[in-house]
Amino acid sequence: MSGVNFLSLVEAKRQGRTLDPLQIQEFIGAFTSGEIPDYQMAAMLMAVFFRGLDTAETSALTLAMRDSGDRLEFPADSRPLVDKHSTGGIGDKVSLPLVPLLACLGFRVPMIAGRGLGITGGTLDKLDSIPGFQTRLSKQAIVAQVQKTGCVICGQTEHMVPADGKLYALRDATGTVPSIPLITASILSKKLAENLDALVLDVKFGSAAFMPTRAEARRLARAMVALGSRCGVNTRAILTDMNLPLGRAAGNWLEVRESVDCLENRGPSDLRGLVVECAAHLLIQTRKSKSIALARQTAAASLDSGRPRQKWDEMLVAQGADLPAFNSKLDADSTAAVVHTVKAGKKGCITACDARIIGEVIRDLGGGRMTRDSAINGEVGIDQIVRPGEFVEKGSVLCRVHAAGSPQADAAVERLESAFGISTRPGPKVERILKTVFR
Ligand code: URA
Repeated sequence: MSGVNFLSLVEAKRQGRTLDPLQIQEFIGAFTSGEIPDYQMAAMLMAVFFRGLDTAETSALTLAMRDSGDRLEFPADSRPLVDKHSTGGIGDKVSLPLVPLLACLGFRVPMIAGRGLGITGGTLDKLDSIPGFQTRLSKQAIVAQVQKTGCVICGQTEHMVPADGKLYALRDATGTVPSIPLITASILSKKLAENLDALVLDVKFGSAAFMPTRAEARRLARAMVALGSRCGVNTRAILTDMNLPLGRAAGNWLEVRESVDCLENRGPSDLRGLVVECAAHLLIQTRKSKSIALARQTAAASLDSGRPRQKWDEMLVAQGADLPAFNSKLDADSTAAVVHTVKAGKKGCITACDARIIGEVIRDLGGGRMTRDSAINGEVGIDQIVRPGEFVEKGSVLCRVHAAGSPQADAAVERLESAFGISTRPGPKVERILKTVFR
């Protein structure tokens, strides 16, 4: 397809007309091979942002993006292929304990994860804080590790879903990221390239999520569940609150450490709850459990057994981690240059802990990236975060800041004071998991 022909499609979408699936397939192929220039695709993205795509168009876009590169091919095996995807949030480290747990529950997990941008953390950035751990694997190495160990967490190979890499960079630069059909196609094209049997999606809403309201998160969840199922992957979504951070730690290394705590059964209850919930749904989706109550019990018992903790080490070694260096890093109270504390100005009950402020502070400490190419500091972050419903005395710790230097830590402490609400009266209880979207 030439730029001239593509122009007529841009005009059609600008006028709100429906595109033919075949035309979508053709222009994604032409864009991936460089025949369509970025400026024309940017115009198409903006037209889609305002006019939307219907189900058939979104499906065609997703499949064309999936087919723009390699797909993972696995040998026949009794272990179902499953994965989980989160739309991203502060302190969201669920994938780290979940993947070895799923391997212990008899699944194969080829998790292709991403990097963080802005305030949302990325699983690959968290894993980069583990000495020696490799996230760049070939397609053959991914398949071999999944067959042997049961799980892998790595980045997309250069040849997987290249259309998404190019489109996402353009969306990022043209203000067209928050579009439900574009997010749906971007996420699902990558997950469909893994050739999964079942997928669970954690769709977040709130101050620190892509989707600020519950209603928008539900619309995105429904679109992804419908399309995933249409494409032959048993897909479910859970809607979860991202007004406050998940767990008590946020920042790359601090989140790895909290994930290990979760695998050792001494992590925060909200993290464990979400890990168990994702695993339980996948047990139901693959007919390994008959009821959600039973599935939750099975997942919790496996976590308690300590086997997922051993599987975690096995995965680390398989991906080149230096286990002695990792263990001595775990023993250190902090790996950042300085640790400062944020203290309560008065006695009372915690009523708020704003995930957005916490995310912005971590990004500005160097723990997140402003642009795709910025380097990040894996050791900075915030831990010992108090949670709504907890009581504090005047002067007690609200959280700790791990920073590269005292000026940065002092600036962070000052900003974090406004993240917490303290009241003499207890605040409302926060329900982390709100609803499951089945279809
Ligand atoms: N994550 C993705 O991979 N793509 C999007 O469009 C949004 C979040």
